[in-house]
Amino acid sequence: MEKKCWYKEMAVYQIWCRSFCDGNGDGIGDLWGVLSKLDYIASLNVDGIWFSPLYPSPNSDYGYDISDYKSIHPDFGDLEIFKKVLDGAHERGLRVFMDLVVNHTSDEHPWFIESKKGTDNPYHDYYYWRKGKGKKRPPNNWDSLFEGGAWEYDKNLDEWYLHIFSKKQPDLNMANPKVREEVKDIMRFWLDMGVDGFREDVITYISKAEGLPSAKVKLPAATGMQYYTNLPKVHDYLAEFKHDVLDFYDCFTVGEGPRMEPDVALSYVREGKDKVLDMMINFSHMEADCFITDFIQRPFDLIKLKKAFTKWQKAMYGKGWNALYMENHDHPRVISRYGSEKYRVESGKSIAASYLFQRGTPFVYQGQEIGMLNTPLGSLDEYKDIMTHNNARIARSLGLGKSTVLKLAQKASRDNARTCMQWSDAPNAGFTEGSPWFVVNDNYRKINVESQQNDPDSLLNFYRDALQFRRDNPVVVYGDYVEHLPKSRELFVYERNLAGKKLLVICSYSEKPVRFDAPEGIHLDEGKQVFGNYENNFVISNGFTTRPYEMRVYLF
Ligand code: NOJ
Repeated sequence: MEKKCWYKEMAVYQIWCRSFCDGNGDGIGDLWGVLSKLDYIASLNVDGIWFSPLYPSPNSDYGYDISDYKSIHPDFGDLEIFKKVLDGAHERGLRVFMDLVVNHTSDEHPWFIESKKGTDNPYHDYYYWRKGKGKKRPPNNWDSLFEGGAWEYDKNLDEWYLHIFSKKQPDLNMANPKVREEVKDIMRFWLDMGVDGFREDVITYISKAEGLPSAKVKLPAATGMQYYTNLPKVHDYLAEFKHDVLDFYDCFTVGEGPRMEPDVALSYVREGKDKVLDMMINFSHMEADCFITDFIQRPFDLIKLKKAFTKWQKAMYGKGWNALYMENHDHPRVISRYGSEKYRVESGKSIAASYLFQRGTPFVYQGQEIGMLNTPLGSLDEYKDIMTHNNARIARSLGLGKSTVLKLAQKASRDNARTCMQWSDAPNAGFTEGSPWFVVNDNYRKINVESQQNDPDSLLNFYRDALQFRRDNPVVVYGDYVEHLPKSRELFVYERNLAGKKLLVICSYSEKPVRFDAPEGIHLDEGKQVFGNYENNFVISNGFTTRPYEMRVYLF
């Protein structure tokens, strides 16, 4: 039997605070709002909360541009209310994880302001400042992911600084030992306060290639990526953080690794002495209806989704631990992408069952548990997200018309995940008594927490029951993973096995009736059906014909 481990057994709820719940009536979600919802969060049967950044930030990238790592954004509250939330969470058995964004700071962070003052300023080397190549030419040809080229010129210094994301997100020079001391200091600050770990933002980008060479090949919006992704030094830095800080606390870390493959992930998370992170967030399964970015769209393909999941399940088995998710603040709502708005509840349950019962630690994003949908906005100007505007600009430069670009944004924008949480059918979905900072989807009268709270068939209660079941059944946490029918375009079927127990998960991703026959050796009538999203679950000849987005889970 595998050694028990709390972070393997937990499930995590992600909060993007600005849109979660407004407690002081200014229209912006805040920590007073979170405090008032702690019982709700605990009722989901999750064991921890990951907060997207709560720190002071000019919001060029809504919190992922930090101007003070040891404080709370005044929109959200202050350290006092944060401590109340932390204590309140702990009292309810919920751990608390902070977002650690140390690839870059805000350009309004005091370190950056100092670094601009002169080449001899002690903070100058906290960032990548370089001379250009002749007049008006940046030091290399790298692209930023959010805003044209990756370099911004400063007239006073006659130097350029590197920003892999927006101009307001200068990259920290992690090669400078003083910067690493700062990171360790930030970690200690929160861990000493009682925080239980970190989600580490684009952690695979924190080392840049010696000499910052230009890339030979130009790629749209990604030139130079190979020179700042997964370089060997990332491991050294993470090992240093672990040995100097994290090892002294009972905490956990999950890294974010864009364009990650399992063998590379294992170099970070493999059980043993070289492990530097507990888990790695990967994006493979987020590309079943798009290519690299949500903006380059293609029709949803279940086989792509299954392949991605299965690849990770197999590669990590017995070696490392998976982070499982279907939504977060960076992706549109999953029912609108992979499911069906028409069969919202049915497809919502089918999608949930297809990842919650896999091997790994599941993350649930605010609003996912009630089946919130995408919110198409009427014009590009209404979008707040910087990445949406960057992608729109690129799409326009490639010759796409305005209305086509708007349609892309409506489907792909991260803002789909950032509309206000729908608590009830009260004005503004019960999110605020003031005027909401961002859109509330009109469907809130129907789709909200209150209407699902006491309905045993609601999506909300399915999430609760599924997560409770995971707690009660070690086969879900520690079992192996075997996929069936990998070639089916409609059904996602897998089993889990542990110590004589078997779980069989059958999820349809189609409106159409599809005949399912139990895999050889499995007799459905010998098992107990523990979940389903329809009444009357007959079994005929050891199988059944699915109803739209039907999901069944059997325990043997
Ligand atoms: C990944 C975060 O999840 C995303 O929201 C952010 O824009 C980038 N990293 C930059 O910090």
